[in-house]
Amino acid sequence: MNELKHLGIIMDGNGRWAKRRGFLRTKGHEVGASVVEAMCEFCIDEGVTILSLYAFSTENWKRPQKEVEFLMDLLKKFLVSKRENFLNNGIKFTTIGDMEPFSRELKAEISLLKELTKGNKKLKLNLAINYGAHDELVRAFKALAKSGELINEASISAKLDESEDIDLLIRTGGEQRLSNFMLWQASYAELAFTKTLWPEFSKKELEAIVKDYRQKNRRFGGV
Ligand code: FPP
Repeated sequence: MNELKHLGIIMDGNGRWAKRRGFLRTKGHEVGASVVEAMCEFCIDEGVTILSLYAFSTENWKRPQKEVEFLMDLLKKFLVSKRENFLNNGIKFTTIGDMEPFSRELKAEISLLKELTKGNKKLKLNLAINYGAHDELVRAFKALAKSGELINEASISAKLDESEDIDLLIRTGGEQRLSNFMLWQASYAELAFTKTLWPEFSKKELEAIVKDYRQKNRRFGGV
């Protein structure tokens, strides 16, 4: 049985979910955000220690301004509304990505939630915001060049936003690509793609994917 320590999810399909119901795309994001809590619960029950969720990529700024504004606002509301839940359930909130471009208010909420939950041990929730794997690697290499450290796998890994490799990477919404998500950490990840659109993704489906993952023969290049 494979251990599952680090689960990554590319949460895709919010827009299509909403359009199919005659709603604005933003409704899909709103419903999508509400799915996160159940995923955290599942991870805690299953002993997963890191959950990395792709919420906003370095490329997502190209979306219509209204949608970007909506997502920023949703993120702020999410950070405030989940505070109690994270504190009660031992969830440590962290982010991966470059926080620089966010507004002062948003940065303050992010820092506050990180500070409040930093001692929590059950699950580390990595929210990937303004995240891109290329950007993460560039920032890591710049930091290494500045420090003058030797360049090797361990030193690169230590300078990344997240050093722990992903065991299982799930993408909802039917596309089979990684879209610049945790490329270094996903080197040996098992990949699972589902057509289910993110707002409809459930604990039950996650359970089935994880069950399948646990039986896989992971060889890491060996035999
Ligand atoms: C992809 O769906 C989703 C996003 C780019 C944003 C992800 C955001 C959420 C799940 C909600 C916000 C989460 C938090 C935690 C605040 P898409 O819009 O690309 O869907 P489409 O492929 O159907 O167009």
